[in-house]
Amino acid sequence: MSIQWFPGHMHLTRKAIAERVKTIDVVIEMLDARLPGSSANPLLGELTARRPSLKVLNKQDLADPQRTRLWLDHYNAQPHTRAIALDASHSAPARALVDACRQLAPQRGGMVKPLRVLICGIPNVGKSTLINTLLGRRAARTGDEAGITRTEQRVVLADDCYLFDTPGMLWPRIIVEQSGLNLAASGAVGRNAYDDQEVALALLDTLRRAYPERLHERYRLDLRVDEVPGTAAEDLLEAIGRRRGALAAGGRVNLQKAAELVIGDFRSGLTGPITLETPQEFAVWLAEGRRADAERAERMAVRSTQPARARTRSR
Ligand code: G4P
Repeated sequence: MSIQWFPGHMHLTRKAIAERVKTIDVVIEMLDARLPGSSANPLLGELTARRPSLKVLNKQDLADPQRTRLWLDHYNAQPHTRAIALDASHSAPARALVDACRQLAPQRGGMVKPLRVLICGIPNVGKSTLINTLLGRRAARTGDEAGITRTEQRVVLADDCYLFDTPGMLWPRIIVEQSGLNLAASGAVGRNAYDDQEVALALLDTLRRAYPERLHERYRLDLRVDEVPGTAAEDLLEAIGRRRGALAAGGRVNLQKAAELVIGDFRSGLTGPITLETPQEFAVWLAEGRRADAERAERMAVRSTQPARARTRSR
């Protein structure tokens, strides 16, 4: 996979979460509703020591409502877990989130035992937007106080409810290839870490199968809707580029421009409300990714036991 990044604050953030979680009652994990499985941090489970968890599927306005329902049911069926879908800029649903946290830790509350909530999520998932919405005019945001590390902020949501905010964090190795592509399509990964054309082709491949009518409508393709699923992503990219005037010298399609256009349309919701994965699909990808990862680890282990000369001979 050509998606490579150097997750900036990861080590510091990881340390801060591991330390903070000792005194936390509920963990909010913010997910991107368009790619809930791929935007879930695989390290978080071990870091948060199975604290009660609230999954927030943010950007629900950009996601497919039917698939959001599937994901909510999926998470709500898990022990000590609740899930809600949000648009981070809407204040009433954001406040529902505080009630959901209180339900997950009913033993906490009041000035003596305030409810302590940790909020985590990948970069760009909408954490700042949500916190600003929650803050409204009522509460204060503090960073510089005893017991609060430089990598976190404490937000006072109510007299008896504190939110500890950590920087957005991506993990260093993504074992599910499709997740890397979906994360890149969503804008969670820095631009230099991926190839636009590869990401746009993967996106078109998903869209042609799951949302052919959206592609057809958005780009007014010279195809019947029922021909879209059987058309290769490369041909779709070219057709879109031509249709939208992304042309290079000699009238050839500028595939880079076409790719940027497809990704931009998806990010801003112009392709329509879309979710790139279902719980079932993601479970299959994850199983496959884990299997490939285990095989890779085994190969590495075998290599490390071979003398260097034998390794050279077997090349
Ligand atoms: P972060 O702290 O997790 O990194 O994310 P942040 O809140 O900065 O949000 C990242 C982008 O996502 C912002 O857009 C923000 O407006 C947008 N966003 C956050 N929540 C939602 C949501 O529920 N729905 C939609 N549609 N968008 C959401 P931006 O273009 O980067 O900035 P701006 O144009 O808002 O200034």
